[in-house]
Amino acid sequence: MTTISHLLKWKQQQKKFASITVYDAVFARLFSEQGIKVMLVGDSLGMTVQGHSSTLPVTIEDIIYHIHCVRRGTSSCLLIADLPFMSYATPIQAFKNAAVLMRAGANIVKLEGGSWLSDTVNGLTERAVPVCGHLGLTPQSVNIFGGYKIQGRDLDSAEHLLTDALALEQAGAQLLVLECIPVTLAERITHELTIPVIGIGSGAVTDGQILVMQDVLGISGDRAPSFAKDFLSTGGSIAAAIRSYIQDVEKGWFPAIEHSFQ
Ligand code: KIV
Repeated sequence: MTTISHLLKWKQQQKKFASITVYDAVFARLFSEQGIKVMLVGDSLGMTVQGHSSTLPVTIEDIIYHIHCVRRGTSSCLLIADLPFMSYATPIQAFKNAAVLMRAGANIVKLEGGSWLSDTVNGLTERAVPVCGHLGLTPQSVNIFGGYKIQGRDLDSAEHLLTDALALEQAGAQLLVLECIPVTLAERITHELTIPVIGIGSGAVTDGQILVMQDVLGISGDRAPSFAKDFLSTGGSIAAAIRSYIQDVEKGWFPAIEHSFQ
């Protein structure tokens, strides 16, 4: 069984790891058999499974359902569960919703946002719920950002992201996802934090990587982001594609410069 302690050890050993989103038992089993040790039931399922144009329609019941499905496919992976839009607007709401996700089989809950969540993160960890933060291009804030745009490009927003990352760690977060920020900023945050940092669209400098499974398999059509890579086109089979994704991340070959932002 992979635990957060393994991820911490890998960070200290500078051993990179690949993780992936997953939404059902069949893929969870297959990914686990190929060596994936960290999986996320992300609210990206609103777009990848439900066909919405954003993650906002996803409910806590949706995440619970998919956590149950994934847990039946793998008993050994570290399973991250997303708290969906508005399910953690207050600490009390976060405690209640995190509890049902943990009961469904999650090992850690993920929420989007920075220092405004300090009390929530602190309260969750004190109540035995591990927390993964998520900063950068946080998709639940798409209407605030005015689209899916790279974050942290100017000095002020970069400093703000670093401050938020430190605040989350200070509040007790044990893991952090950085989405779509410049490589130099991702490198700085990864270096300054003691907790493991997982990147998506943030360069090869983070401790781990995560991709949406449909992007790894090249089946996202015109929704595939520029930072992703279709591993199935050269892999030959889904299993081989996952193995080559893991290998490329572990060797530091993925993401390459063309999958990163400066
Ligand atoms: O919802 C999701 O799948 C995510 C990842 C893209 C990090 O948050």
